Amino acid sequence: MVLQPTLLITIDGPAGAGKTTVSKMLAREMGYRYLDTGALYRAVAYEVRAAGIRPDDDSGLESICDHLRLSLEENRLVSNGIDISDRIRSPEISMLASAVSARPVVRQALLDIQRKIGRDGGLVAEGRDMGTVVFPEADLKFFLDATVRQRALRRYEQYDKGNGQTLEQIEHDIRCRDENDSSRDIAPLKPADDAVNIDSTTMTARQVVDLMMARVRELLELP
Ligand code: DC
Repeated sequence: MVLQPTLLITIDGPAGAGKTTVSKMLAREMGYRYLDTGALYRAVAYEVRAAGIRPDDDSGLESICDHLRLSLEENRLVSNGIDISDRIRSPEISMLASAVSARPVVRQALLDIQRKIGRDGGLVAEGRDMGTVVFPEADLKFFLDATVRQRALRRYEQYDKGNGQTLEQIEHDIRCRDENDSSRDIAPLKPADDAVNIDSTTMTARQVVDLMMARVRELLELP
């Protein structure tokens, strides 16, 4: 159902809150494009690892960002000609993405890319700073959260019973990333003042999307 071709909808929140599942469902229902901005930070992390530089080496990061050729289509992420979609979801890349995402040089480079993608609207964009920094003028902003335990459980189930990690390790990693992502100076994870806050701890993805669709209808004054 294409309700309105030009809305820009943002979904922010911590790791494991269900952003990806919900964003994809919402985008599909509205006939919109979907942007996973975490994947962009993961691509930088992947290149940092491949280049063997430290995540706080700003001149190395600048060079990586300058040469970064990213394309994100049909959920496949191609970086500098290589499809890295299946290589960016490991625990190591998750932590490295969180580390490089605190560096201003990386955030600035990705800011331009994200704004270009969002320019024409008709987009559901998920991340940490969509509603606060990248798209402060978005039409509708959501902040999706859940308890740490519930988020760890979801990751555990999602990655084939942990992908070699125990539930406790996943919970520990999530706590570390929450701390990194929320305490950094630049674009920290936090709800925008005008965001609709949703606690998904006891909700299914369907229930969350229904709630979001109700907000969309309200905004567009649809029955
Ligand atoms: O959503 P994700 O788990 O794929 O994101 C990976 C990391 O990227 C996350 O720990 C913080 C960073 N990130 C960010 O700083 N800003 C965004 N808009 C999206 C992700």
